[in-house]
Amino acid sequence: MEENIVVLDFGSQYTQLIARRVRENKVFSKVLPFNAPLEKILAEKPTGIILSGSPANVYAKDSPLPDRRLLLCGVPILGICYGMQVTAHLFGGRVHKSNKREYGFSELHIDKPQSPLFKGLPKRLTCWMSHGDKLERLPGGFERLAHTENAPFAAMGDAKRKIYCIQFHAEVAHTPLGSKILKNFLSSVCGCRMTWTPESFITESIRHIRRQVGGDRVVLGLSGGVDSSVAAVLLHKAIGKKLNCIFVDNGLLRLGEAEKVENTFRGHFKMNLKVVDAEQIFLSRLKGEIDPEKKRKIIGKAFIDVFTTEAKKLGKVPFLAQGTLYPDVIESVSYHGGPTSVIKSHHNVGGLPKDMKFKLVEPLKELFKDEVRAVGRALGIDKDIVGRQPFPGPGLAVRILGEVNKKRCDLLRQADWIVIDEIKKAGFYDKVWQSFAVLLPVQSVGVMGDERTYENAVAVRAVTSQDGMTADWAKLPPELLGRISNRIINEVRGINRVCYDISSKPPATIEWE
Ligand code: XMP
Repeated sequence: MEENIVVLDFGSQYTQLIARRVRENKVFSKVLPFNAPLEKILAEKPTGIILSGSPANVYAKDSPLPDRRLLLCGVPILGICYGMQVTAHLFGGRVHKSNKREYGFSELHIDKPQSPLFKGLPKRLTCWMSHGDKLERLPGGFERLAHTENAPFAAMGDAKRKIYCIQFHAEVAHTPLGSKILKNFLSSVCGCRMTWTPESFITESIRHIRRQVGGDRVVLGLSGGVDSSVAAVLLHKAIGKKLNCIFVDNGLLRLGEAEKVENTFRGHFKMNLKVVDAEQIFLSRLKGEIDPEKKRKIIGKAFIDVFTTEAKKLGKVPFLAQGTLYPDVIESVSYHGGPTSVIKSHHNVGGLPKDMKFKLVEPLKELFKDEVRAVGRALGIDKDIVGRQPFPGPGLAVRILGEVNKKRCDLLRQADWIVIDEIKKAGFYDKVWQSFAVLLPVQSVGVMGDERTYENAVAVRAVTSQDGMTADWAKLPPELLGRISNRIINEVRGINRVCYDISSKPPATIEWE
């Protein structure tokens, strides 16, 4: 990796956002905890280092501090919010609790428009502040670059040592010219050429995969979701027929999903793909089970059993490829600054078959989801796959409340297809995070023609969200909801009532189970 910005995380909620903004400027970035050893940070050969914000106070006893030598090692540095305070603190400036806290929009007055950080920017601009402490005295060697009404030093810099600091958050959308400030840091201070693109990532990854696996074979559990699909195509480009994909059709997939996977990966990409029809295994093990967590466990275990059996049939395959993403592996820092690094648990189809001693190949583990999509597009993967909404590993089983059987799966598949079809036609598919149908465990009375009916009800769920952690119900137009309801009731025999779920997460969850 030629250019690499290290973002040191002091526990800010915006750390990942900083890394993403850097990448949007076509420079690779990596998040490391603030207490990562100096050697580890320098081993990344950083072109620049960004110190994140933090809810901590620099003057507190247990405040998270970087290794002071880092600030003296000659690598350009940008401190943001707490990152500015900690820099000032370590260089002998004075940071104090402010009697006026500053949260929200502020007007930034630029005092040194000739500073590389503010090149091409107006003298006054809107910025987003979120701090209770402020810098009261500049450390030696620094000059004031900007101020706001409440912060006498809203930006400072030491051109000689290439250390720049801003009190406001340039990474958030509320600082409209923030991205330009970051760009200035990257290009004018760090001298980055900004050439990191999906195409350059692909070339670099192919080289890396070949180096890692040599002439050995790799097995990959393909789910048809964005991550495993992009990982599969990337690996296929790198090692061709040495990649063996296994797609487990668990009978809990959406309408036409298995065919789509087969046509795309075997038909179009000409991959070694084994499709395992395991519907019987999954449905027989799920028979009579209505508890959501037990369903999940049964499905997870069945997946491992089926996958392991198929993988063993392939003979000696030392590598297992997974579509792990960057947010799954970033070590998160607790804000008290303790070295409590927690690696998020992987939320994948069925987890790893534990008794199989695979070495892992994870070509996407340094990418964010939108970057995976961009790489997928650059690899020529169909937009139906690259732009797919998330789909849970346990599939329709967590959307069928009560018992899961073939009849109920078929009923839900038909209703779900109509939801997606109408949402796509109305142009909402890419605007919502997820949209789907849920089969409820209730029957209700209806009237069709002159006949009384007593049939199933479905709920339609559509949510907007940034990351699936919180979500709001999507305000779909009533006409669209009307069309979905009419079509489901008219076209799906066995459903006579459609409800729209208007609960947000929290307190509800996205899936019903
Ligand atoms: P909830 O329902 O917890 O869902 O609000 C948040 C996100 O996670 C997906 N989800 C799952 N994904 N296995 C998965 O691979 C699961 O068991 C599972 N449960 C929920 C859900 O679709 C949403 O995107």
